[in-house]
Amino acid sequence: MSQNLVTVAYVAASALFILSLGGLSHQETARRGNYYGIAGMAIAFLATALSAQVTGYLTLSAMIVPGIMIGGIVASRVAMTSMPELVAILHSFVGLAAVLVGIANYLQPEPTLLGVEETIHKIEIYIGVFIGAVTFTGSIIAFGKLRAILGSKPLMLPARHLLNLGMLAAVIGLGFPFMSAEGAGGLTPLLVAAAIAAVLGLHLVLAIGGADMPVVISMLNSYSGWAAAAAGFMLSNDLLIITGALVGSSGAILSYIMCKAMNRSFFSVILGGFGARASGATKGSATAVPGGKATSIDVEETVELLEQANSVIIVPGYGMAVAQAQHAVSDITQRLRQQGKQVRFGIHPVAGRLPGHMNVLLAEANVPYDIVLEMDEINEDFPETDVVLVIGANDTVNPSALEDPASPIAGMPVLEVWKARQVVVMKRSLSSGYAGVDNPLFYKENAQMLFGDAKANVNAVLGQLSKTGKAQPQALAAV
Ligand code: TAP
Repeated sequence: MSQNLVTVAYVAASALFILSLGGLSHQETARRGNYYGIAGMAIAFLATALSAQVTGYLTLSAMIVPGIMIGGIVASRVAMTSMPELVAILHSFVGLAAVLVGIANYLQPEPTLLGVEETIHKIEIYIGVFIGAVTFTGSIIAFGKLRAILGSKPLMLPARHLLNLGMLAAVIGLGFPFMSAEGAGGLTPLLVAAAIAAVLGLHLVLAIGGADMPVVISMLNSYSGWAAAAAGFMLSNDLLIITGALVGSSGAILSYIMCKAMNRSFFSVILGGFGARASGATKGSATAVPGGKATSIDVEETVELLEQANSVIIVPGYGMAVAQAQHAVSDITQRLRQQGKQVRFGIHPVAGRLPGHMNVLLAEANVPYDIVLEMDEINEDFPETDVVLVIGANDTVNPSALEDPASPIAGMPVLEVWKARQVVVMKRSLSSGYAGVDNPLFYKENAQMLFGDAKANVNAVLGQLSKTGKAQPQALAAV
């Protein structure tokens, strides 16, 4: 394939990637955005494989074919709730690729690069290897934390900021012998710097508490983009530079949005230490210290509340995803709406385990987009709402975020469900959510617990609602 044709293909692929990002920013256009991305990647791959620089087709096939097969199998089997783990491990591959490309590039330099160009190329290699190594090990730790192989508590080494600064200074210091070495003489400082960067990546993510993991995922997403862009500079591949910059900047914007949603400053998250003041409850612990007496409710009573309500807000969380209850939730919504009730959804920006998790599930279950509202759009409406159904959400409806300055999630905006007249919380026990924090919501006077698997309970409620037919809504003021 001629270089001109390759350039045209790269421009087309870049345009498709930009269209893809635009599409992915709205639920209605997300599917189309995905197809643009797939088409862009297919064009990019074919153009690169057919370009004049690529000749070793046997080696390429030996790598690509198993890669496609493994990727296809893993992606088709992964549960939606395990998606962040998959994303984290994929980020680690991008980081590792940037390190390997950097080292290979250094050992086999482009003979045409001389003087300033050679210096710039060496800087690209050094920075690329550094970002790649941080991304590689940081993503592996994120994977371990998300998969619960590693504890979600932050590692708080004494003088950890000094330690990070020391490692950064060592990497900068090693840059001098690397830059001044002739031939491949700079390999040792490059490898030592890569090893220090790898430890820095480990330490940075180990120091971040469970409650801040959403920011870490998007931050590593951004790092992996910059690592890819650095690899693009090393390989003089414009498309890789553009793609890397798109991923890097969109990841940075997402991190900013996440920080805003959790009321964190970006720097305090990446410097670590949040989530350390856990209230004694451990993740998934059923022995969380109760803050009072929780009242339980059964399916019949829940149906009664719903029958009497005029306005209902459903707040889904991670438990709805685990239970795969979204289709039954969608059916309940439809039935209640047929009965003339106002039914809306309140979505917290970090509900579930990945950005947009709840929106994807609800869209899959054909819940109309216009009744799915963001936290900021719906938070003021809780005081005028008759019944809130909290389905498998916990941290995102925890009042201690606003009421307890010592809470690890203090300051995080939450859905203020307790302001509604009645709240029914569907979960299996009183145990804590992802952040391992007790939830005083369960003990509020107007809150009642419908214990059990979310899908089983939602189906049972649906069954009862069906039996009661089209009852006329009455005001719930008396409840
Ligand atoms: P969580 O606080 O994680 O709570 C989910 C609750 O679902 C659990 O307390 C659990 O209680 C319940 N549950 C689990 N399986 C269930 C089932 N089959 N049926 C019914 N309930 C079930 O959920 P959330 O409110 O969505 O908050 C998300 C948390 O994850 C936040 O802390 C957030 O920071 C963190 N996080 C988010 C992301 C992103 S990007 N969204 C990424 C990483 C971490 P039981 O065990 O009692 O049933």
